[in-house]
Amino acid sequence: MEHVDVLVIGGGAAGLYAAMTAGRRGRRAVVIEHANRVGKKILMSGGGRCNFTNTGTTPENYLCGNPHFCKSALARHTPWHFIELVERHRIAYHEKELGQLFCDESSKLIVRMLVDECTSAGVRIETSCSVERVAHRDDGQFELHTTHGAFVATSLVVASGGLSIPSMGASGFGYELARQFGHALLPTRAGLVPLTLSGKHHERLAELSGVALPVVATCNGQSFENFMLVTHRGVSGPSILQISSYWQPGDALTLDLLPGVDAYEALFGWQKARPAAEFKTVLGDAMPKRFAQRLCEVYLPHGPHTRPLRQYTPAQLRAIADVLQAWPLVASGTEGYRTAEVTLGGVDTDGVSSSTMQSRLVPGLYFVGEVLDVTGWLGGYNFQWAWASGHAAGLAA
Ligand code: FDA
Repeated sequence: MEHVDVLVIGGGAAGLYAAMTAGRRGRRAVVIEHANRVGKKILMSGGGRCNFTNTGTTPENYLCGNPHFCKSALARHTPWHFIELVERHRIAYHEKELGQLFCDESSKLIVRMLVDECTSAGVRIETSCSVERVAHRDDGQFELHTTHGAFVATSLVVASGGLSIPSMGASGFGYELARQFGHALLPTRAGLVPLTLSGKHHERLAELSGVALPVVATCNGQSFENFMLVTHRGVSGPSILQISSYWQPGDALTLDLLPGVDAYEALFGWQKARPAAEFKTVLGDAMPKRFAQRLCEVYLPHGPHTRPLRQYTPAQLRAIADVLQAWPLVASGTEGYRTAEVTLGGVDTDGVSSSTMQSRLVPGLYFVGEVLDVTGWLGGYNFQWAWASGHAAGLAA
């Protein structure tokens, strides 16, 4: 039985950061990772370039049952702290858009940086190591039986992530462990995930697969302006991934297909400027032609839209504008955990200290990263939560 100070279950973003932070304080930390290498999600993130933080991070960029929960950790470990580490390791990066920072070269550099930091902080990493049993002893210590032997520690950090991308090592282990220790769980579902369409909604759009256009996606009071991409199964692209975290089957979801434009003013203006042009042709100049054509064929009222613009009455233009500005997208579901970037829900934050990530029920037990009911928007916010929550736990564990 090996005695250490801190055991971290999960060698992903949050677990490595927690272990590194604890190790720097002189704590003997061991990371238990069941996959054959650490940081697999970091490696595949950001298209292989890891969108490692967002300089505009605020608590408003997160979904959580308690909107105040993430404030303390985010305030104490900001994007600038992580950027400082990245710069110290001479990793070149750039801002893509909206404060999103990516590696110039490869996500591998971020994993290497974290592993190097762990090594210099004396952290031991056990890969291909499965946890068989976790026990809480009468003396308050945690006993972990693994395929690499048994460990005893005063602190146990659960950093096993969520359910997305099971082929990358995702497991429900953290949730089961939380339940074992009496923690409440909020229902989990896939987030930042493409939406699927079915029946006539699918048939009408499927052949436009590959078409992308800017939209404002709105659902349950939340809006995101960015690109939408039509896929074979439904719709994706950043605006759809973002809104998917706010959508559940049955919820109304609308798309403004002319973002930043008053559609009625635009239609009226086009009518004045090009009265003899076909409506379909003019709309095709404002968005991808194939998409405009399909809208004209099946979605917009007062067709056929092969008529010249001068034949439309103001009331007809108004009705068409209303659809262009709030086109109802009837999604049937999501692509699920297979392609989701994150898992919504998880360990209820009511049972966890927001400053240390320590369980309020079991002293010495910590939860960090995605296993908690904290989910960021697309754009580097999820890694920032992993670093910030890992840091908070690493300082306390
Ligand atoms: P994470 O999933 O990283 O790590 C958990 C670790 O625990 C894994 O290594 C897993 O193998 C291990 N584990 C699980 N069960 C275990 C068990 N029983 N025993 C031992 N080990 C166990 N975010 C962002 O901010 N910017 C981005 O660019 C992207 N891009 C992106 C792309 C793709 C394709 C996905 C799927 C996700 C993203 N994300 C992202 C989200 C981001 O990857 C995610 O939020 C963090 O990795 C969460 O960090 P955690 O450490 O909590 O979990």
